[in-house]
Amino acid sequence: MKFPRAIALTAAAGLMTLGASGAVGAAEPIKIGVVLPYSSVYATIGNDITDAMRLAFDELGGKVAGREIVLIREDSEVKPNVGLAKAKKLVHQAGVDLLVGPVASHVAGAMAQFVNQAKIPLLIPNAGNNLLTGEQCSPYVLRTSFSNDQFVRIMGPWLKKKGYNTAFLMASDYAAGHQMMEGFKKSFVEAGGKVVGEAFPPLRTTKDYAPYLAKVKAAKPDTLFVFFAGGPAIQFVKQYDAFGLKKDIQLSGAGWLTSPLFLPAQGDAAAGFIGSLNYIPSIDTPTSKAFQTNFKAMTDRVGSEFAAQGYDTAKLIFEALKQTGGKTDDKMAFIEAMHSVKITGTRGSLRIDRKTNNIIQDMYIFETKKMGGKVGYNILDTIKAVQDAPKGCKL
Ligand code: PHB
Repeated sequence: MKFPRAIALTAAAGLMTLGASGAVGAAEPIKIGVVLPYSSVYATIGNDITDAMRLAFDELGGKVAGREIVLIREDSEVKPNVGLAKAKKLVHQAGVDLLVGPVASHVAGAMAQFVNQAKIPLLIPNAGNNLLTGEQCSPYVLRTSFSNDQFVRIMGPWLKKKGYNTAFLMASDYAAGHQMMEGFKKSFVEAGGKVVGEAFPPLRTTKDYAPYLAKVKAAKPDTLFVFFAGGPAIQFVKQYDAFGLKKDIQLSGAGWLTSPLFLPAQGDAAAGFIGSLNYIPSIDTPTSKAFQTNFKAMTDRVGSEFAAQGYDTAKLIFEALKQTGGKTDDKMAFIEAMHSVKITGTRGSLRIDRKTNNIIQDMYIFETKKMGGKVGYNILDTIKAVQDAPKGCKL
């Protein structure tokens, strides 16, 4: 793998050597603390986001106003107490200027409370926890990825309209899984659909989905609507295929289930799913095409929606830093810059909503299909500029 030139990266925040910054008169680097999973069920997601951030900063030259941008990486292990401890370490020991992370909603909940007290900007490049850009929003917490509700509320009416009248819901048993199933259920029931069963397998320990699939089989829904990502998505898709339910029950859900990041491990088992995503690699724009070419050259992988979020996050940070002239001491000035910049990202034109601190973006509904010998995405619908209501957020 080719490593970008401009970006120093270390897992040991306290021990970091900062190269050129030690030279007399050199400007202080801009330190970005990155708290993502590099182990456990979401490790591939953490790596994808990190690689894409490094790619973006490297392409942009890796410096603002003479200050080198340095990423200092810590492993959240997909555990709220660990994510919180790592965020504190980065702020209090490494003295980072801002934080980026995490992937999982429950880890984000723990980190958000801390950054709100410490008054350090936290840019969330994945975790969709609705509360953080809703009832529990904070001026210091901004999200460049999605809210859980943004992904699922479009799916209820869409599936109902296509003739799916009953649904069984299944998701990893933690904040994100519950929020996504609640959001889907509300939109599906409001559209006239009926939920005939629910199951929540544990996040970090479930290996065997057969007992849950047996319940689905008995309930005979028109569709099984799911949220799984990372390792669980790979295992679930293979087991669903092997269980033989595909021909009778349409598999649908939040689109990460068959992310390009997981497709190579899932193979043909991933065909025949209907889902929603905020980025599809085939999006035909110059920014998306260049991102795919350069990400592939760097990592030998297709750029997933996780990588797209990492890339766009870095680009937004870079533009905001340019606007503050590379200054990071005045956190509210940086946050104001994050609100006022508008970038053309991998996902098209992007901006952060001042009312919620959540991103406004287009969403895609797709089906997975075998095409040209491999499973790929067929876009069925595009829903433009999906924006959350403030839901009690006052900024
Ligand atoms: C979350 O926990 O918010 C989460 C994790 C993985 C995803 C999406 C959402 O793919």
